[in-house]
Amino acid sequence: MILILLGPPGAGKGTQGGRIVEACGVPKISTGAIFRDLAAAGTPLGLEAKSYWQRGELVPDETVVGLVRERIARPDCKDGFILDGFPRTVKQADTLQGLLYGMDRQLDGVLNFDVAPDELIRRLSGRRSCDNCGATYHVTALPPKEENVCDHCGHTLVRRSDDDPESIRIRLIEYQNKTAPLLDYYTRRDLLFNVQADRKPEEIFVQLKELLEELGCAGLPKALA
Ligand code: AP5
Repeated sequence: MILILLGPPGAGKGTQGGRIVEACGVPKISTGAIFRDLAAAGTPLGLEAKSYWQRGELVPDETVVGLVRERIARPDCKDGFILDGFPRTVKQADTLQGLLYGMDRQLDGVLNFDVAPDELIRRLSGRRSCDNCGATYHVTALPPKEENVCDHCGHTLVRRSDDDPESIRIRLIEYQNKTAPLLDYYTRRDLLFNVQADRKPEEIFVQLKELLEELGCAGLPKALA
């Protein structure tokens, strides 16, 4: 099963993506998380990417595409994978189509997370993340059991550097200008499934489970039994 999680910053792609991974047993590939890890390790690619994401801008297509090409060719992707945050431009979508064609594979669906702009700003402003295991929380909507401590690994939670008001503003503009055209792109290919993502996380996942079953998520019945 090959899926794309599409939607504006803060729509809940990462939050629900974690649940989909548990249910379907395929890896989630988050280009944003890969860039953050590479930057934390001080690699040239990570530092180049950081210069863009810290301003809220998209990283250039060539940089992202090379990274995804290498990642989806790894053995753990043989039964499928979930792309979180890729593609984000029509050029990236075209490239992905070519990559999958070359691997004799095809996209099963694109889940579009739909949330109003005011709610996106509220979610991003209150987000806290764990640098160690990648878990994500929200100070009021999804708080950790102990303030500022990760439930999973006990590390201190941090605020992402691109969650400041100016970066959020630019990220939302980048989304409208460069990523929103993908809604039409995938609708025309009959691959787009809208997720009503302005509800509680558990309610969203009820809808997702139905969609995942439809799309052939192999591990679903067992995982939810
Ligand atoms: P990336 O890491 O992908 O960030 P993003 O797309 O901006 O998405 P976010 O991670 O901010 O939001 P999300 O939808 O995952 O929401 P989350 O689940 O965390 O990319 C970062 C940067 O890397 C980009 O800006 C760009 O520069 C670069 N980049 C990455 N990929 C690229 C590409 N392909 N091309 C070019 N550049 C690229 O939830 C948000 C908050 O809301 C959390 O606090 C969460 O707890 C809370 N929340 C979640 N669901 C709910 C709910 N239902 N109700 C209430 N609160 C909720």
